[in-house]
Amino acid sequence: MPFARALVAAAVRQTSYLRPIVTRSALLPRRSFAVSAVTRHNELTPPKPGEELKITFVDKEGERHTFEVAEGDNLLDIAQANDLEMEGACGGSAACSTCHVVVEDEDMYDKIPEPSDDENDMLDLAFGLTETSRLGCQVKMSKELDGLVVRLPSMTRNLQSSDFSKK
Ligand code: FES
Repeated sequence: MPFARALVAAAVRQTSYLRPIVTRSALLPRRSFAVSAVTRHNELTPPKPGEELKITFVDKEGERHTFEVAEGDNLLDIAQANDLEMEGACGGSAACSTCHVVVEDEDMYDKIPEPSDDENDMLDLAFGLTETSRLGCQVKMSKELDGLVVRLPSMTRNLQSSDFSKK
């Protein structure tokens, strides 16, 4: 019998599929998985009573539309939730200029946090750029911006690859 046992042991040593498999992932430290809250476009948080902030959009026809919104809402979401004509082609990622707005009051413009480099790059492509132009998706309402008035430009420019193809 010892011979038979030795024979089996030798066979097991030579059979790689019977060895324990150690994968690369088993050697890595375990990582936790986390998710952040999903941000949905077009969905506004209703303002808490007494904390409403006013924003006015002046549309292409010169008509004024005033809304009461909550802190943290951005101008693109506010405009779209209220069926104003603001395209927001890139979904609010500062990769187009279709949410271009012009802030009416220079003092109010100065209260908005500085635009990022990405926003400035896109603003350079905006139709009818002014000294107080901003991208609506990048401007979030805050207490300092209560009473903000923005004008929607008469046109927006949405550069797509088709704009560069030969016709
Ligand atoms: S929606 Fe594209 S930059 Fe604002």
